[in-house]
Amino acid sequence: MIELTNLSKSFGQHIALQAVTLTIGEGECFGFIGPNGAGKSTTMKILAGLLTPTTGSAKVCGRSVITEPDAVRPLIGYMPDFLGVYEDLTVDEYLQFFASAFLIPRAKRRSTVDGVLQLVDLTDKRDAMVDSLSRGMQQRLGVARVLLHDPKVLLLDEPASGLDPRARIELRELILELRRMGKTLMVSSHILSELAEMTTSLGIIEKGRMLFAGSVEEAFRKANIGDRIEVKLELEPGSDVRGHHMAMAERLRRDERIAGAEFADGTLLVDLAATAEGGGHSHHFLIAAILEAGGRIAAFTPRSVKLEDAFLRLTKGALN
Ligand SMILES: Nc1ncnc2c1ncn2[C@@H]1O[C@H](COP(=O)(O)OP(=O)(O)OP(=O)(O)O)[C@@H](O)[C@H]1O
Ligand SMILES: [Mg+2]
Repeated sequence: MIELTNLSKSFGQHIALQAVTLTIGEGECFGFIGPNGAGKSTTMKILAGLLTPTTGSAKVCGRSVITEPDAVRPLIGYMPDFLGVYEDLTVDEYLQFFASAFLIPRAKRRSTVDGVLQLVDLTDKRDAMVDSLSRGMQQRLGVARVLLHDPKVLLLDEPASGLDPRARIELRELILELRRMGKTLMVSSHILSELAEMTTSLGIIEKGRMLFAGSVEEAFRKANIGDRIEVKLELEPGSDVRGHHMAMAERLRRDERIAGAEFADGTLLVDLAATAEGGGHSHHFLIAAILEAGGRIAAFTPRSVKLEDAFLRLTKGALN
């Protein structure tokens, strides 16, 4: 549904995007992660036809956003990072205004606006002034606006920024609902955890370069992340706890099935490497390896690894 090939954008001397290549399939929810100035908004604006790339191509449903903008426009809904100020307009008037701008026939406008209001759960606020809405409601109104012409692809630029935890959960529910409706989504954020649980794939961009793009499973695999296990060794009273654990960590690190081992907070933290299939290695070999090295296990506690850990590994040292 979205295909970027070697997309670059410069503003004068400044390179905002550098040869970005990316494919997003139908029904995917692509989380677009990167710090301030990474190039997220620039990418989305190019897709929305608001910026022309310096080089490269950008396609939506196989149509070029550069040479066929009129064909692309009905296919996409772009929500910019802030809504803008609309004084003296009610929620209903605001949506009616955009419905007419999107050339939705007058006879269909009422039912279209009612439909999107219901979807974003703002029916009760239809007569409220836009300026009086909370940030979370304004973000939902922004989503309602981009749904008016029923586009296949939605580009949401930082919809979760500035939302409290409750509003964030509501937004997540809304995004999951859009996924169920079969929409393809590109959602940007600074923070991975804002998007966890709603994305099917993710891209990490920094300084205009795509560091990683792929499925969530691939992110784990590429970061070489399997399971993490906390191990405590049983030691003689009075022995050097730190020294013993450090020595064990040192030995374990030599095993290729182990991605990392370190001593922290009184326990040994062992990261199992991911297998070729993307899962973790079984835990049994670790028990055997510890026993073989002369260790006695006092505690053995598997911990789940978060997507954030994968993110940190994928970005660590990639840029300087
Ligand atoms: N119109 C412009 N003129 C000059 N430079 C620009 C323009 N728009 C963006 N830039 C620069 O391009 C780079 C990428 O900006 P962009 O807005 O795409 O980042 P972003 O990832 O959306 O960041 P943020 O998280 O702050 O929204 C930045 O260095 C920015 O200063
Ligand atoms: Mg931005």
